[in-house]
This record gives sequence, structure tokens and C-alpha cells, in this order.
Amino acid sequence: MEFNIALLRGDGIGPEIVDSAVEVLKKTADKFGHKFNFTPYLIGGSAIDATGECLPEETVKGCLASDSVLLGAVGGPKWDSQPPSNRPEKALLGIRAALGLFTNLRPAKLYSALKDASPLRSDIASNGFDIMIVRELTGGIYFGERGRRQGEHGEEAYDTECYSKMEIERIAKVAFETAMKRNKKVISIDKSNVLESSRLWRETVHEIGKNYPEVELSDMLVDNAAMQIVKDPAQFDVIVTSNMFGDILSDEASQITGSIGMLPSASLGSTKRGMYEPIHGSAPDIAGQNKSNPIATILSASMMLRYSFDLQKEADAIDAAVDKFLEQGFRTADLAGNTDVKPLSTTEVTEKIIELL
Ligand code: IPM
Ligand code: MG
Repeated sequence: MEFNIALLRGDGIGPEIVDSAVEVLKKTADKFGHKFNFTPYLIGGSAIDATGECLPEETVKGCLASDSVLLGAVGGPKWDSQPPSNRPEKALLGIRAALGLFTNLRPAKLYSALKDASPLRSDIASNGFDIMIVRELTGGIYFGERGRRQGEHGEEAYDTECYSKMEIERIAKVAFETAMKRNKKVISIDKSNVLESSRLWRETVHEIGKNYPEVELSDMLVDNAAMQIVKDPAQFDVIVTSNMFGDILSDEASQITGSIGMLPSASLGSTKRGMYEPIHGSAPDIAGQNKSNPIATILSASMMLRYSFDLQKEADAIDAAVDKFLEQGFRTADLAGNTDVKPLSTTEVTEKIIELL
């Protein structure tokens, strides 16, 4: 089969990790007899440098015309002085909205080979965990009304958390469908003891849940959830939550897997076209030094094959190569930490994974 993939390399380590995943995709295409065509587009700080705009029109058009999008990361101190409307992060929100990607799947699982890299106490880590965070991605406080105004005590700033019933219904459906293919358990996370938007969230998730009698549904307040994720991560199967809570909890969940450098994500809408990106940022401090961990991006490419192209065995092959890489004791700098293992460079990791593939 033939697919057109738009590449948004972005900033910092973005280009090197995307290039690594592209090599792995090329090898996968060779092995299974497919053809992937790659077209790069500008986004984030590098787009500002080249065109003055963080999300050029051509990038949006190119992504809309592609079968799927692979993104590295955006942002860096160089662009911190940009106005809010032209910050690299704004491009990320812009492309998510432009492509209608309201679902963000963020799997966080503990590889048995990485139990020692997890900061969890060993009796907790030894239970393992495999969590799928379903984060709402185009609503809530990220997209609500915001601004500055004069209040009683002078200048004020505000951001608004707003969810329509429709937005909650569609993300809840994704969560239940996802759970049906896994362990049939959904925990919906909100702050309904305080927020009205959370009360609508909870009500609506339960309404949708009635259509999935086989799925066990429960609710958890976000502060408790932050605690439970480190206390007993094995209790979670599918988590469904709002844009901001999902942002925060997915970083927390990533850390207990050993490194944020391991976690991929898929952003999906109502078509097959998705955008795939690691959940970590652009790590400007290590950019260009050939020491970033490309695994989250490689696993994101695997998610693209699975969710957008329906190439299950091809995705399985990439996942298995990553498993083997870890099982055989190879480590990237972030995973090696203070151990005696000599970490592999980005290009060495890529070569090794391709060889294992
Ligand atoms: C993420 C990131 C983004 C987000 C930022 C860079 C806008 O943290 O993808 O998790 O908050 O969604
Ligand atoms: Mg984040």
C-alpha cells in the first residue's frame, strides 16, 4: 500500500527524532512491501525563523492533503519573546484544531526491562502497568476565552474551562471503544467537587457509559488521580479526561515508565488522518548532540501504522523491535541514568532498532 506522510520536524531535538522514525518507517515499508512518501513542512520556531509565522498556511494545507502527520516537537527559549499568538506552542494547538484532532491517545506502560529505571518503589513497579490515557485535545481551557482586564485590584488575567456536551460525548465514546478492545475498565477523571464543567463531564460520561454495559466505569477526582498513579498504577486501564488534566497526568504517567523519552501519542479526529508525536518536548538543551531518545517518536510512527493505516502486523513488528532493544539491555542517555551502561546515540539507537526489525 502507498501512503503520504507529512513530516513536521519542528524545533530542538524534533528534526533528529523524526529523521530516526522515518528511517524505521522506510525499513518497515521495504520489509512489508509498502511505499511511504514523506513531505516536510515547517512548524513552530523554525517556521517563525523562515516565514515569520509559527504555523504557515502551506503547512496546514499539506497536512490536510496527507494521509497522516508525524511531528517531532516545537518550542525553545529562542522564541519565548514571541507574542502569545505566534508562539511555537500556538502552532501545535493550531494544527490540532485545524485537523479536528479531538482525541489524544497516550499509552503509558512499564516495559519489564525498564522496571529498574522507574522511580516507583520496586514492590509497586513489579505489578507492572499498562494505561491508556484518552485526553480530550481540542476543547477546555486550552481553547476557552482568555484575556486581561482591569479588576477591583488592578490588572487581572483569565482563562476559561468550557466543555460542550457534544465534546464530552465524542471523547467518552472513544474511551469506551478503546476499553472494549482492552480490559474493559474506564476511569473518568475530573474535578466535579468544584467545577461545573466537570459536573457536566461526569454526567455525560455516565450517559454514554450506559451504551457499554460490559465496561466498568468509575470516577476519580484529579488530585486523587495524581496520587493513585504513583501509589497503584496497575489499577488503571483506560483513563478519560479533559485537555489540561490529560496534559498533566500524562507527564506524570510517563515518568513512572522510566523516562518521558519513551511515550508516544496519537491524535485522532473523525477521519483516518491522525497526527503522531512523542509526548515530550523539544529539549533544546540537548538538541543537535545526537543523544536524544528517538523511541517515543518511533513508537508514534508505529501508532500511525496501527490507527491510521490499519497496518497491524507492521506496527507489531516495530513495537517488537523496541521491546527487543530494551530486553537486550541497550539504553539511551535518559534511560541509562546513573547506571554503568554506556548509552547509545540517537543514530546508534536507530540503526539497532532497524537491525532488530
Ligand atoms: C503536550 C504539550 C503541549 C500541550 C504544549 C507544548 C502546548 O505539553 O503535547 O502535552 O500542552 O498540549
Ligand atoms: Mg504536555
